[in-house]
Amino acid sequence: MDLPLIAGWRCAVCGAHVDIATPLAWRCPKAIGADRHHALELVQGISPLRSTGDDNPYLGFRRYLAWDAYAASLGFTDAAREAIVRDLDAQVAAVAGTGFRTTPFARADALSDALGFDADGGVWVKDETHNVAGSHKARHLFTILLHLVATELAGRAPWSSATDRPPLAIASCGNAALAASTLAASVSWPIRVFVPVSANPAVVARLHELHADVVTCPRLDTDPLGDPCVHRFREAIAGGAVPFSVQGPENAWCLDGGRTIGWEMARWMEEQLDGPPFDRLFVQVGGGAFAACVAAGFRMSGITPKLHAVQTQSCAPLERSWRKAAEVGGPAAAATHWEACMWPWEEVGTSAADGILDDETYDWLPVLRAMADGHGEPVVATEAQVLEANELLVRLTGIDASPTGTAGLAGLLAVKDQLDPSERVAVVASGIRR
Ligand SMILES: Cc1ncc(COP(=O)(O)O)c(C=O)c1O
Ligand SMILES: [Zn+2]
Repeated sequence: MDLPLIAGWRCAVCGAHVDIATPLAWRCPKAIGADRHHALELVQGISPLRSTGDDNPYLGFRRYLAWDAYAASLGFTDAAREAIVRDLDAQVAAVAGTGFRTTPFARADALSDALGFDADGGVWVKDETHNVAGSHKARHLFTILLHLVATELAGRAPWSSATDRPPLAIASCGNAALAASTLAASVSWPIRVFVPVSANPAVVARLHELHADVVTCPRLDTDPLGDPCVHRFREAIAGGAVPFSVQGPENAWCLDGGRTIGWEMARWMEEQLDGPPFDRLFVQVGGGAFAACVAAGFRMSGITPKLHAVQTQSCAPLERSWRKAAEVGGPAAAATHWEACMWPWEEVGTSAADGILDDETYDWLPVLRAMADGHGEPVVATEAQVLEANELLVRLTGIDASPTGTAGLAGLLAVKDQLDPSERVAVVASGIRR
């Protein structure tokens, strides 16, 4: 189990390397000041994707986690690393009501029939609505928390004791904020959550229950363009807070644990799916970390279905970057043409899928590359398709997902006419209705 599968990180933009043993290395070392146009990606050896069978994906797939290699470099034995994951998971379960468990994945028969698939094809739905904090988001954040806890346990943290830990910080008023605050509460780590004036009062109330320091962020006269929550978040980071973010450019370690969902799906496909593998994955994209991780997880299984990143007509910067990338030499060349391909969507509209209205797809580079590698392409769904997808999925599967959580299916509806009825398609119901 002590094989060094992971050497470290490499920035897809500037080529900088970060050794896996570097504590608290959240960003590319060349991402100075407010520059976030860098993209650390894991440099990882190829090995067959196997689970130990443990129902907790951080244990079942532990040897593939960058965190495991990091903790080994701190001197923790195999048994000690397993114990750290188990202990932290138990602490999360005490606050969240559940720890991390392999989530359900099955063919949705009634939905497949309703969409005209034949018996060989169909739609398979991964259900994340009962994951920790009600969405997939905690999967990403758990490896940041594991990193912090292991660093502290090893005596390598720059803070002297648990009482003077730097606060965690996140800019979000949705699932990511709830996941972050739930994980922070599980270890009584202070957290500051930067939310807009328009934040959902029910979410804010839950954040308070979890003892988060909720900071409402009106636009200040002195603010530059962009989201004031992000400005306040960046100021907190500059002041020493830990980026507890589900955006790779803010904290690449979120891209480690997020892969557990791809690993679960890929392993299930190999072990339990009779017949051919999936032809396509439709994944809803906001900041892009989710799709990047689903794709990265599948890639390690050696089978890469076509990836379709799904956005709505109200905000589709990723689809634009796909077209722009073609003008600069394709997805591989796009990394050195960030400004020409990815910039904030000028007129963000409204959508029932409000969790994917990020004006910028921060993790666009790995998503673009995954689509290119697997011969997929982005899909932009209409608002009618967003609503229809939610109605169909909730009614025909009984999974009480939000419209953001079912937006991948909206992408399938958008291109359904081009698919063969025997095709096999997977989507993720990524978050519960609030
Ligand atoms: C339920 C749900 N699904 C999907 C997403 C999109 O994830 P990402 O922002 O990583 O693209 C979000 C983001 O908020 C979400 O809340
Ligand atoms: Zn870089």
